[in-house]
Amino acid sequence: MATPAIDVQNLTKSYGPVLAVNDISFQVQPGELVGFLGRNGAGKSTSMRILTTWQPASSGYARLAGYDVMYESMEVRKRIGYLPENVPVYPEMRVREYLTYRAQLKGVDRHGRGARIAYCLERCRIKEVQNRLLATLSKGYRQRVGLADAMLAKPPILILDEPTSGLDPVQITETLNTIKELGGDHTVLLSTHILSEVEKVCDRVVIIDKGRIKFDDTLKSISDREPTVVAEVRGPGEAVTRFLQDQPELLSVAAKGTDGDLTTFEIKARDPRKDVREELAKRLVGRGWGVRRLESRRVSLDDLFSAVVFREADPAATEPAATPAA
Ligand SMILES: Nc1ncnc2c1ncn2[C@@H]1O[C@H](COP(=O)(O)OP(=O)(O)O)[C@@H](O)[C@H]1O
Ligand SMILES: [Mg+2]
Repeated sequence: MATPAIDVQNLTKSYGPVLAVNDISFQVQPGELVGFLGRNGAGKSTSMRILTTWQPASSGYARLAGYDVMYESMEVRKRIGYLPENVPVYPEMRVREYLTYRAQLKGVDRHGRGARIAYCLERCRIKEVQNRLLATLSKGYRQRVGLADAMLAKPPILILDEPTSGLDPVQITETLNTIKELGGDHTVLLSTHILSEVEKVCDRVVIIDKGRIKFDDTLKSISDREPTVVAEVRGPGEAVTRFLQDQPELLSVAAKGTDGDLTTFEIKARDPRKDVREELAKRLVGRGWGVRRLESRRVSLDDLFSAVVFREADPAATEPAATPAA
């Protein structure tokens, strides 16, 4: 297999007693667009600062494009574009001037420089503010200047820390579209705490919580997971539960709540490709019970995220529909 674009092994970072990143490992292959998803304080920015050589790890290692972030940091820096959480501001500089300065710093070829800056201004939709002072820009525009900066030197790897934070909904959509277009040519690791952003643009999601990786898989495999059937049955709760548990096609039956003589169940079939609903309806009605709902529900990233993130916090929470990676 090709050298991974990003290879993280047992990376740990503590700030005094705070374990911000706790023994994380994951890889990103060239051309992948991966969402790094987690709540505030989960450890996303800390991880990204280590990957981009801005901060040393306490232990473990990371290699980008095959280079060690600690021992070959200059090689790493040549190959990455980084949009930090807080885009550095040079308030007295104008947008175009700032990007020109950054392009020089990054060694963008002098002849192609003007064209490259024009391209990035266009791509990040900041052409109209190119002559404005950075100090006068809104957070949304500053963020897009940061994105333009990250892509200036055509780095193969982009590390984007919450690229949509501070943007309004229209800008969010535009920025996500830009990032999606960048995928394919680039390897992109994008952090966010917003699920729908991952769903819109990413191929894969790595979920981090309290410094640990809780899940790592493709969105496709999430949507391919076995569906849950949600059933609402009118009848004596215990008898209905026992009856459902006795059905050979069913793998699991969990009563989720009752409302008078109506019980809600979450059911999984033994064969995930088989739709058991019609057969179940027939048998339940055959027993003289009422079937008010029989709905097949796919696992969403939302379900998964809650299951992964809240499982520890709430010991009473049920097993997630999907089994997260260790
Ligand atoms: N410079 C720092 N000094 C001390 N603690 C820090 C520092 N930076 C982050 N932390 C702590 O590390 C944890 C992870 O933070 P961070 O990586 O910023 O998370 P995220 O980007 O996912 O919101 C948090 O508990 C945060 O308070
Ligand atoms: Mg952060």
